Amino acid sequence: MRDKKDSAPLFNKIAKHYDTFNIFASFGIEKSWRRRIKTLFIPKGNILDLGCGSGQFSKTIINDNCSVFGIDPAIKMLKIGKQRKYNLKFINGYGENLPFKDNSFDFIISAFVFRNLKNINRTLSEIKRVLKEGEKLIILEFFWPENHLLSLFFSIYLGHLLPFIYKIFGGNSQDIKYLCFSIKKFYNVKNFKSLLKTHEFDNIRYLNLSFNLARYFIMEKGKENEQN
Ligand SMILES: C[S@@+](CC[C@H](N)C(=O)[O-])C[C@H]1O[C@@H](n2cnc3c(N)ncnc32)[C@H](O)[C@@H]1O
Repeated sequence: MRDKKDSAPLFNKIAKHYDTFNIFASFGIEKSWRRRIKTLFIPKGNILDLGCGSGQFSKTIINDNCSVFGIDPAIKMLKIGKQRKYNLKFINGYGENLPFKDNSFDFIISAFVFRNLKNINRTLSEIKRVLKEGEKLIILEFFWPENHLLSLFFSIYLGHLLPFIYKIFGGNSQDIKYLCFSIKKFYNVKNFKSLLKTHEFDNIRYLNLSFNLARYFIMEKGKENEQN
């Protein structure tokens, strides 16, 4: 599969307003979605936040029992996180080429990143390589609504209204349109689950959030002697 266009330059461009825009665009709901991760696992050991941005997802799980590493190719997103002084080790890099040894992490988490990856298959292979056997990968992602009314609302709100508001505040409406269409072009739930299956993750399940607008996918890397 050919690589998609690198989205890191776009995130560098919108980094300054990204977090505020996110809260505004989701009417604040995304904060509660992120906090929900605390009900899905007990953070301990080494944790990787893949596509960490400014660290908004990691900050909900940081505690004294874990070391959190955040990796992201957009240097300006990392810079904002560093200024906020979260207890997180920020690393500049891509999910497709993780600079870690095999079996380094007890958990890997990732929020709103998968639809922005250059190569989803290569990233999933890298995740499997650096995750310890039997441990969890947790992905939070938007999915385009299957309900016709919600789909229409999404098209108008994300595709037209938000880009218009963003433009009034001095941004480039095309940048926000990209975020909208990246959701539309992304896998549906069934196909995403199939993709995860082809990478031989075990026990793949998902949790629906707010009228199924977003979902947590939770899975484990199987143990060597239990695979196949
Ligand atoms: C929508 S933001 C989400 C940031 C953060 N996870 C959060 O929840 O706020 C998507 C992030 O994915 C990062 N990203 C884009 N391409 C990536 C890649 N190939 N590997 C890892 N991260 C990537 C972007 O730089 C951006 O920070």
